[in-house]
Amino acid sequence: MPIKNRFAELLPEITGWRHHLHENPELLYAVHETAAFVSARLREFGVDEVVEGVGQTGVVGIIRGRGVSGRAIGLRADMDALPIAEATGLPFASKIPGKMHACGHDGHTAMLLGAAKYLAETRNFDGTVVLIFQPAEEGGAGAKAMIDDGLFTRFPVDEVYGIHNAPGVPVGTFVTRPGPLQASSDEFDVIVRGKGGHAAEPHRAIDTTLVAAHILIALHSIVSRNVDPLKRVVLTVGTFATDSAASNIIPDEARMEGTVRTLDPEYRAIAEARIRQVAENTAAAFGAVAEVIWHPGYPVTVNDPDGAARAADAARAVGRGVIDDADPIMPSEDFSYMLERVPGAYVFLGNGDTPMCHHPKYTFDDEAIPYGCSFFAELVERRLPTA
Ligand code: NI
Repeated sequence: MPIKNRFAELLPEITGWRHHLHENPELLYAVHETAAFVSARLREFGVDEVVEGVGQTGVVGIIRGRGVSGRAIGLRADMDALPIAEATGLPFASKIPGKMHACGHDGHTAMLLGAAKYLAETRNFDGTVVLIFQPAEEGGAGAKAMIDDGLFTRFPVDEVYGIHNAPGVPVGTFVTRPGPLQASSDEFDVIVRGKGGHAAEPHRAIDTTLVAAHILIALHSIVSRNVDPLKRVVLTVGTFATDSAASNIIPDEARMEGTVRTLDPEYRAIAEARIRQVAENTAAAFGAVAEVIWHPGYPVTVNDPDGAARAADAARAVGRGVIDDADPIMPSEDFSYMLERVPGAYVFLGNGDTPMCHHPKYTFDDEAIPYGCSFFAELVERRLPTA
């Protein structure tokens, strides 16, 4: 086994933490019990400093190694669950109705705790390890909240790394790539105001539904006509509704909501500008008015090329296989905020044959734990070598 032997020994204990977290899922920033559990374990391991309440409910642990290099590395795990009713039937399934660790963040937290225990025991590195346990990855921008609360000024690091499990990839296989790994995710609303009226007298009205339909179709020209065919942008309108309650009414107002995903930060700005132009000017052509509300979401997750190469090297030392030139994926990830500020990389760790993340039968594979722990530990020992 290429994994570090200590993690084979620690596996029952780490798995126990994982199952405890799995039974007690918490959402967004309300990860109070989870954060308390993490802090208690870190103190038990003899971690040098444990700071709670960073970005509301985030936890930071500091482990100092030998030597005086002054270098520091950040390792991050997310702690929050999802508002999904679990359907796995596992003996340690969620005890909280309507809440489930359906994205494996319980596994991520357990793996970082395992690495913390090992690193606090061995301290076979020269520098500082900053353990980052963040709340609210699932739509709450918990990483940004921790950064805004001074994460990287209070606990400066030279590099930062994180792991997400990957259903469909064999356990023990690591997957990453240099450059964009996951998409940005912005949302927009288009509100169209025409002039309501009787369906049989359209000439006295401005048909808001018709205007909105033209806008919807024109929005789909943005990806096909304004985006370099070699770049990846997705635009989807997910809702479309009017305030009319009957077939014989021309409504006053129509509303649609959509999302834009891209792997190229430049296209976030282009998409926003074009959506505004297309909606406002198409509405104007019909004598209606369109208002666009833009909701910026998570940025593109961009791996530093050197960071990705170092992560792949560490993964090769402890894994069963490494894919270091994977295709990017379009779901977004708020570790992107950390990678915007500090070079590093995000890696996927195979989670075997299970339904996709966010499915009620999704299951984190505990066999992945020693690989994730070993990866974190290996990375620290390589990046903060002792003389
Ligand atoms: Ni996730």
